[in-house]
Amino acid sequence: MASPAETRTPVRSRASIAARTLRTDRWWVPPLLTTLGLATFVIYAGIRSFMRTGYWDAEYHYLTPFYSPCLSDSCLPGSAHFGTPIGELPGFIPLAFLSLPFLLGFRLTCYYYRKAYYRSIWFSPPACAVAEPHAKYTGETRLPLIVQNAHRYFFYVAFLITLINTYDAIVAFRGGFGLGNLILVGNVVLLWCYTLSCHSCRHVTGGRLKHFSKNPVRYWIWTQVSRLNTRHMQFAWLTLGTLVLTDLYVWLVSTDVISDLRFIN
Ligand code: FES
Repeated sequence: MASPAETRTPVRSRASIAARTLRTDRWWVPPLLTTLGLATFVIYAGIRSFMRTGYWDAEYHYLTPFYSPCLSDSCLPGSAHFGTPIGELPGFIPLAFLSLPFLLGFRLTCYYYRKAYYRSIWFSPPACAVAEPHAKYTGETRLPLIVQNAHRYFFYVAFLITLINTYDAIVAFRGGFGLGNLILVGNVVLLWCYTLSCHSCRHVTGGRLKHFSKNPVRYWIWTQVSRLNTRHMQFAWLTLGTLVLTDLYVWLVSTDVISDLRFIN
């Protein structure tokens, strides 16, 4: 009979190939594009969050998601849907300073975006069959990548903020019904798809269960979430687009650059 030492799987090191990779395809293009897309969004959202103009249309009750919830005395009259428990804020603090860091954290630690910037920026790993520059693979066990483990907490807060955005979209119907309402509602529907298709949501709904058969309700919810989860990448891209579109629309309408298309006044 073979001894345990003889049956142990041999430890394999990388093949000693001088070339960094033998791949000839442009394996670096997709992760680079994803990272650039996310970076563009973060820059746009950052600039808009500090502008303090064009975020609220008092006539049609449109509030951009980048300023929600607005909770300070510095918010324009009518835009603070939950009151103003916070006093005046200095100009260098975004009016939605309570929600923006969590939304940013939710995006940046999203499994889909992680995959992209691990490959295009962190190079750990760059791609299949491409050697990485790091001497040792430590995964998400050390700073800074250990922060990724906070994703589930960002998910909890993002869930609450999506509820708030939903409320904002409903409140906007007080001003009648126009194209802006459709844009706000469409954005919120897609935000729910993105939030509920999160991998952490799958874990919340179906994780740690030993027997699905004994938890039919959770199993059903987990099945629906899992269906959405197969489209998580699409929702990630769509919501980047709808968030910018919604903000841009509210900005242009509230500053009278364009007129809202009205269906019912
Ligand atoms: Fe993408 Fe959670 S939001 S995995």
